[in-house]
Amino acid sequence: MSGGVVEIIQPKGKSSDGEEQSSVVVGRAVYEHPFIVRLCHWVNTIALFVMVGSGLQIFRAFPSFGAKIPQKDLLHWPKAFAVGGWLGGGLQWHLTFMWIYMASGILYLGYQLFSGNYRQVLFTPRDIPGVWPMVRHYFFFGPRPPVREAYNPLQKHAYTAAIALGVLSVLTGLAVWKPIQFSWLAWMMGGFHWARIWHFAVMWAILFFVLGHLVMVILHGWNNFMSMLTGWKKDPEY
Ligand code: HEM
Repeated sequence: MSGGVVEIIQPKGKSSDGEEQSSVVVGRAVYEHPFIVRLCHWVNTIALFVMVGSGLQIFRAFPSFGAKIPQKDLLHWPKAFAVGGWLGGGLQWHLTFMWIYMASGILYLGYQLFSGNYRQVLFTPRDIPGVWPMVRHYFFFGPRPPVREAYNPLQKHAYTAAIALGVLSVLTGLAVWKPIQFSWLAWMMGGFHWARIWHFAVMWAILFFVLGHLVMVILHGWNNFMSMLTGWKKDPEY
């Protein structure tokens, strides 16, 4: 469960000049991230890193979405930033970590749904009015809107979109991996060729999210970062 609140107390004792002191409340902490959420977050971070690296290794074998003859490469991804060494190696890494990526995603979604913790992160229509004030604050030096819960509307929007992109990365990947067995998926994406383009585009969208996410994590400071390790947010603003 998330949402527990504790007071951080400095216990009763003697001060440096020997005077008896009663215990004082020195801070507050809120339990924001349940263990399963933290576990899945970090497993997913590692899995995503391998999936992107090995995916780009596979892409290097035919870096084009156009005709095979004449081949016109879209981009030359450097070997140094690819995982697996060659096409076969990249495929093995990709198809192994795919299970870890999917397992952590399913565990995360299942936990969020059944524990009710999804309310903390899911962007709903009632969050819409809060988006612009947050954008104004972050990007146009506007006043800081009051903080009322763990995630502000912009964070909810970003996280909900990231989770949806995670689901899309799996669906487009399945269509590319098994276009016969999942022919209905490939069909929904406009055919195998388009499924491949969607899979590639979703990866860049996820990377774009991660970049913004990391900037925000740095801006939100140490207590925020530690909350994703320990679960507890020290001195929250709400
Ligand atoms: C080194 C890399 C990363 C760091 C340091 C990091 C850090 C954090 C922190 C501190 C939070 C919670 C605090 C907050 O936003 O207020 C968070 C939440 C979240 N992160 Fe990351 N993150 C990383 C990578 C990723 C990646 C790769 C993804 C997925 C593409 C991701 C997706 C999310 C999501 C969806 C949440 C909200 C989870 C929830 O509460 O249910 N993060 N991250």
